[in-house]
Amino acid sequence: MHAVITALPGDGIGPEVVAEGRRVLEAVGERFGHTFDMREALIGGCAIDAVGTALPDETLRLCRESDAVLLGAVGGPKWDNPDAPVRPEQGLLGIRKALGLFANLRPVTLHPRLIAASPLRPERLQGVDLIVVRELTGGIYFGEKGRDTTPDGGESAYDECVYTTAEIERIVRTAATLARQRRKKVTSVDKANVLETSRLWRSVTTRVMRDEFPDVHLEHMLVDACAMHLIRRPSDFDVIVTENMFGDILTDEASMLAGSMGMLPSASLGAPGDTGRTTRMGLYEPIHGSAPDIAGKGIANPLATILSVALLLRHSLGLEREARAVETAVWRTIEDGIVTADIAAPDERPATTTDVGAAVAARVIVG
Ligand code: IPM
Ligand code: MG
Repeated sequence: MHAVITALPGDGIGPEVVAEGRRVLEAVGERFGHTFDMREALIGGCAIDAVGTALPDETLRLCRESDAVLLGAVGGPKWDNPDAPVRPEQGLLGIRKALGLFANLRPVTLHPRLIAASPLRPERLQGVDLIVVRELTGGIYFGEKGRDTTPDGGESAYDECVYTTAEIERIVRTAATLARQRRKKVTSVDKANVLETSRLWRSVTTRVMRDEFPDVHLEHMLVDACAMHLIRRPSDFDVIVTENMFGDILTDEASMLAGSMGMLPSASLGAPGDTGRTTRMGLYEPIHGSAPDIAGKGIANPLATILSVALLLRHSLGLEREARAVETAVWRTIEDGIVTADIAAPDERPATTTDVGAAVAARVIVG
């Protein structure tokens, strides 16, 4: 196949880990006979420095012409002021919205080697294999927001949270379709005892699941209870579906089950067939941030980005065999002890970012 992919390395360790993602993608292309036409563009802090905005028009144009986007990370101390008019995060939120990437998939699986890195007791982690499907273009993130003055001379601020039936239906369908390929269980997370958006969420979810996915088990859970159960009995979860902000918070919590943030990939998907192509537009990125403290040292773990490349192959290009080849190569690299400091055992010499990327690329084989 021939696919066009835009790389957005971004800030901090972004460029280092994206370089390794690209290396693995090239290895896949070579061995499986595909052409991946790679382009690169600016996003986040580096874009602010170069052209004064976190999401330049040129970047958006390139992404729109692509089959998929591979992103590193945005942000850093230089652009950290939350009151600044231009901020790196605007690049991320802007691209999600502009490309219609409403479904954010964040899988949490655990290599046995990482059990020791998790703050949880090993027996709690047995069998953890869950995926959070977070709604990504609605809710409080994108509602009207603003400031007012109060009669006493103080200030007030507001952020509106809105969800429509159509927005809920499409994310629930994405989650249930995934569950069908897994353990056929969906946990829908809301705050229906307090929020009106959550009450709509719950009734739409119940209807869609009953009418379209009778073979998939549905449970509803309040978000505070979910935060607790993720720690108490994480292996009970299969697919969790939830709104934008709950998903943001729960996925940081869930990432700790896996020990290192350096291992977790993510996929943000648009509607299938949205572009009139056979591919599904998606943006793929590690869930970790730009880690400015270790940037440029060659010690960042590239596996989350490389696993994001596997998700790209699977969800945007429909290349399941190739996706598995990458995941297997990652697994073998870990087994062979070629890992960065964040997951290396105390008696092991840590490998560099490029060592790990090269080792995975070398292990990509046509199975
Ligand atoms: C995430 C991040 C972003 C979000 C920030 C950087 C805007 O926390 O992808 O989870 O809140 O969505
Ligand atoms: Mg977050």
